[in-house]
Amino acid sequence: MAILEVNNIKKKFDNTEILKGISFSMEKGQTLSILGSSGSGKTTLLRCLNFLETPDEGTITVNGNLLYDGKEGLKRGEDLREKRLHFGMVFQQFNLFPQYTALENVILAPKLEANGKSTEEIIENGKMLLEKMGLADRMNNYPHQLSGGQQQRVAIARALALHPDILCFDEPTSALDPELTGEVLKVIKELASQHTTMIIVTHEIGFAKDVSDEIIFMDGGVIAEQGTPAQVIDNPTNERTRQFLSNYNK
Ligand SMILES: Nc1ncnc2c1ncn2[C@@H]1O[C@H](COP(=O)(O)OP(=O)(O)OP(=O)(O)O)[C@@H](O)[C@H]1O
Ligand SMILES: [Mg+2]
Repeated sequence: MAILEVNNIKKKFDNTEILKGISFSMEKGQTLSILGSSGSGKTTLLRCLNFLETPDEGTITVNGNLLYDGKEGLKRGEDLREKRLHFGMVFQQFNLFPQYTALENVILAPKLEANGKSTEEIIENGKMLLEKMGLADRMNNYPHQLSGGQQQRVAIARALALHPDILCFDEPTSALDPELTGEVLKVIKELASQHTTMIIVTHEIGFAKDVSDEIIFMDGGVIAEQGTPAQVIDNPTNERTRQFLSNYNK
């Protein structure tokens, strides 16, 4: 069974259709990368999956459970927070809470969710995740004391701390210097090798080719091309994909 099924998602802003019917599915443990030029709707799609935007039409199904049906919209009193827990989101700008340390940033939401876990367990898990991100010696630092790459790795640990079914990244390295980009891509690659289910919006074509099971190329609010990295990146058949890729040194 697919871990995620997205069917015919449409989204308008001010009467302009930005997503024009997006459908795809993915299997547990897979990495899907989304490429596409600026304005093609990549962020809007991720925001719809994370319920930061409400799609006008279409369905979102996770592990066989229908989370959203555009025909019905969001019902009054529906628990958005619970829906959001299926997805983790890592943003371009890290979005850490400046007044909290790295560890506090990671454990804040799990403490609110608790689910029967003790504070000690939550702290232990937070420390383990930060260690996994290579930040064992940075746990008690505040965001302003961390490099961009370190902040982004805290943000990844924070997203993982809620055990999402699918971890989403929106251009996780585009605010970083090339040197720091490498350390963030390395941890994402490691997550992929451990079969973390991920959707990655990125302009790092070489990285996407290396790490992804599947690539989607978006253009003007539709999926213009989809397939394995070998198909989409090495042998694109769509003219827009070819144009887009020709702007990059692969
Ligand atoms: N809240 C909003 N209100 C109005 N228009 C919006 C809103 N959010 C996005 N848009 C428009 O939707 C289109 C797609 O934006 P989106 O951010 O999804 O593109 P993108 O593919 O992520 O681009 P980029 O690569 O630059 O991040 C753009 O034309 C944008 O101006
Ligand atoms: Mg974007």
